[in-house]
Amino acid sequence: MNNFFSKRRSVLARKMSTKEIPDEHLEKILEAGIRVPDHGALNPWKIKVITGDKLKYIDENIILDEYKKINPHANAAQLEIESRRLQRASIILAVLYTPVDHPKIPEWEMTLSSGAVCMNLLSCAQSLGYAAQWLTEWYAYNDKVIEYFGGRLGIDKISGFIYLGHKTEEPNERRRPEPNKVISYL
Ligand SMILES: Cc1cc2nc3c(=O)[nH]c(=O)nc-3n(C[C@H](O)[C@H](O)[C@H](O)COP(=O)(O)O)c2cc1C
Repeated sequence: MNNFFSKRRSVLARKMSTKEIPDEHLEKILEAGIRVPDHGALNPWKIKVITGDKLKYIDENIILDEYKKINPHANAAQLEIESRRLQRASIILAVLYTPVDHPKIPEWEMTLSSGAVCMNLLSCAQSLGYAAQWLTEWYAYNDKVIEYFGGRLGIDKISGFIYLGHKTEEPNERRRPEPNKVISYL
């Protein structure tokens, strides 16, 4: 294992810069990112790539609208945050979990594969030196947002938004699990 996985670290969305990411790098991230274990090759997840004006469009027309509906007394500062959520990134990869009925493969395994694709997209972007963070925040659980991405209400879910941008500084290390608390040898 190279040093990348020992040092890999996410960069907070609010600390990213939104300079452009070249298409060839995005393609690499997507191509390598979807190479994940998937029992039965069911592809129980779909990736929606959000770039350019679409970030602003979704912020202003979906996320902000929904926030206002749920929080009718929100103040100006809160509305400002909600009107720019996705615009913290250069590109967002929304991972939609789309389980299928299968006679043998349990849905749990499809869920795991969906998490794996999030983690892999994150690592692929970070391995190219990009700032990246896996977020859900409140809007991943909002029906209008799920529908906007083509999700079936009550079935599909958003596994995560993979925020991609550029680093403005190296991130500090965060608290990591103590190996002896999470790992044991039988
Ligand atoms: C499914 C999932 C959802 C997450 N949602 C959020 C979130 O909404 N807000 C947040 O601050 N962090 C969230 N995180 C945590 C961030 O990804 C955080 O940056 C991460 O723990 C950093 O880990 P790393 O440095 O090992 O990549 C989420 C993590 C996962 C796995």
